[in-house]
Amino acid sequence: MAVNMKGKSLIEIQHLTLEEIYQIFDLSRSLKEERFIGKKHHVLEGKKLGMIFSKPSTRTRVSFEVGIYELGGVGLYFNQNDLQLKKSESVSDTAKVLSRYLDGIMIRTFDHQDVIDLAKYGSICVINGLTDLHHPCQVLTDLFTVLEKKRTLQGLKLAYIGDGNNMAHSLLHGCSKVGMDIAIASPSGYKPLDFVVKESGENAKYMGSKIEILDDPVAAVKNADIIYTDVWASMGQEKETEDRKKKFAGFQVNPQLVKHAKADYIFMHCLPAHRGDEVVDEICDSPNSVIFDEAENRLHVQKAIMALVM
Ligand code: CP
Ligand code: NVA
Repeated sequence: MAVNMKGKSLIEIQHLTLEEIYQIFDLSRSLKEERFIGKKHHVLEGKKLGMIFSKPSTRTRVSFEVGIYELGGVGLYFNQNDLQLKKSESVSDTAKVLSRYLDGIMIRTFDHQDVIDLAKYGSICVINGLTDLHHPCQVLTDLFTVLEKKRTLQGLKLAYIGDGNNMAHSLLHGCSKVGMDIAIASPSGYKPLDFVVKESGENAKYMGSKIEILDDPVAAVKNADIIYTDVWASMGQEKETEDRKKKFAGFQVNPQLVKHAKADYIFMHCLPAHRGDEVVDEICDSPNSVIFDEAENRLHVQKAIMALVM
């Protein structure tokens, strides 16, 4: 039976039930098929989505804007500098005002608490388009992409090599919720946050899957079905780039490393990729790589999310 998600904010995957996650995947699949055959699906006719960006974006910006248009609604883009938000107006007042005009808000920002507060003080759904802590739309898309490629999720192993950042956190929540094993290899000082590991550990225990936080990329990649990586310095950490290059030097996804995975492993990256740092061309452009399918699927999965919550 369908789960009613209308009005629900998507702040982190931890707040979703397994039924809600699979409902998003089912709708993503049918919207993708309908788009492919050119069938219109104006299920959000006349709805307005505000899109607030405090950081740059290619995929999130374009896929949300195209997505709301294809659902029959309209997207309004705001660079944070366009708004009074956090300059001369609080997050709570902004939430109350925007709720009088819009049907939903998608926000990309630094502080995760701002997204929580927007949802708390406003009366419309809020979709997290990336914070320093999480990137739920990306990971829901990644799991949908794995499901397309591997036909199942439960029982697979994902190895994440690199920074214990927003991507690592959302992958921990996402994989553990659906019963996938996840092994994360990061340099010391760059591990995922303990509380996210703990929350994910509880999910994994319930689903009978495994979480490993390791130092050694080879151990993480052993028998993996999926190898995932992300940039070493995220948006907002640009000043640390050179220092991080030294610390992450042994954490590159390259032909030597992927030999330890299953022969039919798939390579994933949320993009943008810094080729030559966390990954090399040979891997990004190999037949195992599904990076551009992930990018495309952002559109289908976010349309499903909007259709369900707005
Ligand atoms: N993966 C992702 O969110 O890409 P953008 O930063 O281009 O939106
Ligand atoms: N960890 C990266 C993800 C980009 C989609 C960042 O936050 O910049």
